Amino acid sequence: MTSLNDIRSTFLGYFEKQGHRVVPSSPLVPRNDPTLMFANSGMVQFKNLFTGVETRDYKRATTAQKCVRAGGKHNDLDNVGYTARHHTFFEMMGNFSFGDYFKTEAIPFAWNLVTRELGIDPKRLLVTVYHTDDEAARIWKSVGVPDDRIIRIATNDNFWMMGPTGPCGPCTEIFFDHGDRYWGGPPGSPEEDGDRFVEIWNLVFMQNEQFEDGSMRALDMQSIDTGMGIERVAALLQGTNDNYGTDLIRALIEASADATSSDPDGPGKTHHRVIADHLRSTSFLIADGVMPSNDGRGYVLRRIMRRAMRHAHMLGSKDPVMHRLVPALVRQMGAAYPELHRAQALIEETLKLEETRFKTTLDRGLKLLDDELVRLPDGAALPGETAFKLYDTYGFPLDLTQDVLRERQRTVETAGFDSAMAEQKAKARAAWSGSGESADLAIWYELADQHGATDFLGYDTETAEGQMLALIKDGASVDALEAGESGWIVMNQTPFYGESGGQVGDTGWLRRLDDEHDLAEVTDTQKMGGGKVFAHAVCVKRGRFARGEAVAQEVDHSRRGKIRANHSATHLLHEALRRALGNHVAQRGSLNAPDRLRFDFSHAKALTPAEIAQVEAEVNDYIRQNSPVDTRIMTPDDARSIGAQALFGEKYGDEVRVVSMGTLSGSGKGADGKTYSLELCGGTHVRQTGDIGTFALTSESASSAGVRRIEALTGQAAMDELRGRDHALSRIEGLLKANGAEAVSRVAALLDERRKLDNEVAQLRRDLAMSGGPGEGPQTREINGVSFVAQVLTGVQGKDLPPLVDDHKARLGSGAVLLIADTGGKVAVAAGVTADMTDRVSAVDIVKAAVAALGGKGGGGRPDMAQGGAKDADRADDAIEAAEAVLGG
Ligand code: ALA
Repeated sequence: MTSLNDIRSTFLGYFEKQGHRVVPSSPLVPRNDPTLMFANSGMVQFKNLFTGVETRDYKRATTAQKCVRAGGKHNDLDNVGYTARHHTFFEMMGNFSFGDYFKTEAIPFAWNLVTRELGIDPKRLLVTVYHTDDEAARIWKSVGVPDDRIIRIATNDNFWMMGPTGPCGPCTEIFFDHGDRYWGGPPGSPEEDGDRFVEIWNLVFMQNEQFEDGSMRALDMQSIDTGMGIERVAALLQGTNDNYGTDLIRALIEASADATSSDPDGPGKTHHRVIADHLRSTSFLIADGVMPSNDGRGYVLRRIMRRAMRHAHMLGSKDPVMHRLVPALVRQMGAAYPELHRAQALIEETLKLEETRFKTTLDRGLKLLDDELVRLPDGAALPGETAFKLYDTYGFPLDLTQDVLRERQRTVETAGFDSAMAEQKAKARAAWSGSGESADLAIWYELADQHGATDFLGYDTETAEGQMLALIKDGASVDALEAGESGWIVMNQTPFYGESGGQVGDTGWLRRLDDEHDLAEVTDTQKMGGGKVFAHAVCVKRGRFARGEAVAQEVDHSRRGKIRANHSATHLLHEALRRALGNHVAQRGSLNAPDRLRFDFSHAKALTPAEIAQVEAEVNDYIRQNSPVDTRIMTPDDARSIGAQALFGEKYGDEVRVVSMGTLSGSGKGADGKTYSLELCGGTHVRQTGDIGTFALTSESASSAGVRRIEALTGQAAMDELRGRDHALSRIEGLLKANGAEAVSRVAALLDERRKLDNEVAQLRRDLAMSGGPGEGPQTREINGVSFVAQVLTGVQGKDLPPLVDDHKARLGSGAVLLIADTGGKVAVAAGVTADMTDRVSAVDIVKAAVAALGGKGGGGRPDMAQGGAKDADRADDAIEAAEAVLGG
């Protein structure tokens, strides 16, 4: 049997031999098309190569492209499970020529592959061509297809367009005849929609570009875009015309049957088919970064997930099932799509979480629906309000309700559903508009209401394309921003991170797709409207940016790289601090900017140098460990129960991102005993801790009572800091003529020597003063029976006076002393009275009188020793006189 995996490698191998570059599938979330919800064909990633806007180092390519058709224009969701060929997820094989070969090569390539490599009987094939395309018909004939098997089609079935705009051209399709066991007629016949003739390959001759106004131009070059649905080809090679009977999907159906202990082909057959298909789309979407939510892509994912979960529930399973099927999918497709391996844990946890949660309301919702149906007349549509209640209270997406009703041949009254939804939105609007939000913020809530949440793509990419939904200038919506103007731009999706959780907003550039010359600089990104709307602060440099147009978005990569490194280092720092200081360490604030990081945490006292060194070394240890940084989604409770660090008092939503990094060496704490850092975090992080480079702690200080603050650098900035410190040290070593530890002991010795010299100098000054100079010599006189010495000194400091006073007192034996030191700009005054005289005169009185005479104020001390200060040394004589007056009574 030719397995689906064999067909994939045969196809890619064949075109590789024909000089094609094997290019990996692009992610399901298109990076280069702002209007497309999901990649829905192989050419999406090459759109700009066809129009000539972009060139690469290859002109021929071949791919196996992941495609999702659910939500948006191509939506096959409703039919999945009930038909042989509808899928929400499928793989499209393709070969592409960008201005290289055209029809004369493309058709023989296809014919050879189908008839020789895959060995399909040419007699069971027929082809269609666009009715005017004689050339294609001639080439088909030349490879051996008889005239009666070449069907000309005049409709758009044979003119392929990517969408309302973009590259397009006539196409030719290969059909396989499954035989008269099946009902149906050849293409172009009234019975063409039957299951007998199945299209297996579409070759598009890209030669035109369609514009919004309906006009079309011939492209400068002629190109080829082809698409072969691999499941259909697998079906015919495996002798069935049911895609769900092929090896790969059958394995998933059997896994579903196993997990629910039911018969894969029994009454639950449709349920297994739905589950098998939805397992593929949901797993691939999660692997590509989509998370279930209530808006946009996330809501499409949630709808598919819940639809599958309802079918699993119908098979009687009490516990969540979907996550248990992921290993089967990884076995089947992990080799071709390694992202499934990488994201396996994330996929399993996300499915389990959603199913566990949905199960709590699913039963009750289904019961409400049953009760309602019993009351309704036969065949009547379900009232819209009931469908809305199921949506609003029980989490039933509308299409899930429709899916239930389909089994009972009923429909929903959708108008009633829509008006109930509109009413709820109006109520929500009234609630926030009455909540006192200031008027200039109202505009953001209106945008959130109108367009839903901005789709953030920035966890996986830093470049993308977005459609401008609104432009704001001076608080009001405008149609366009012109060169020189500043304002805000809101787009449907963005790779720009909006400031939150301590991480600063991204900056970068927007370029208009129609004219790449037009440029707006993004100077900041903020989250507005309750955090739902990403607002890009822009300054238009060239051209005009208008609502509705598409732009190429480019985050400043180097700046974001630095922010990422700082943010991841903050997580490592947080954990290192907890380990060094204790579990009381909790985050109190943080800043992750491109040039530095700052982390505030609860801790009562300053860190010792040893603690700082330990923390810095540990962070660097985990950087060198170079372990991958993983992100998972879970409920806040689950996150806490596995020991993830959360911000105290922070309000978290239903689901949180949990970022883990580092593996504990040896035994340690952490719920699984292995992960080093585990934190709730919505920020962007490095892929591997080694990407942080280096970590250097630059300061540790008090932030507020009981909160310490650490500032640090990473990467090149850390290296520069360390280099700077090293350079300063080298200069010191040069001056000391000693290196390393020797320089340290040399500095210690110098400081010691300096202390000794200081003491010596002070002593010498005192000795000099006592010996009479410099300054006037001491004059001793008797006043009122008290010996009194007064002296004016220069070259001594205030602190030298008390010992000098003591010396004088000792020399006098009994008496009083006044010393006035001119210390350059200031005057220090000290007085002393020997103990036997303190009952007659107080040193405090002497000092106060002298200070007053010197133009100062105050002075104080004890009766035997007092000090004071003043400014005006010229009045020293007055001061001495004033002191004498005190003695004289
Ligand atoms: N782009 C073409 C298709 O999707 C090949 O059918």
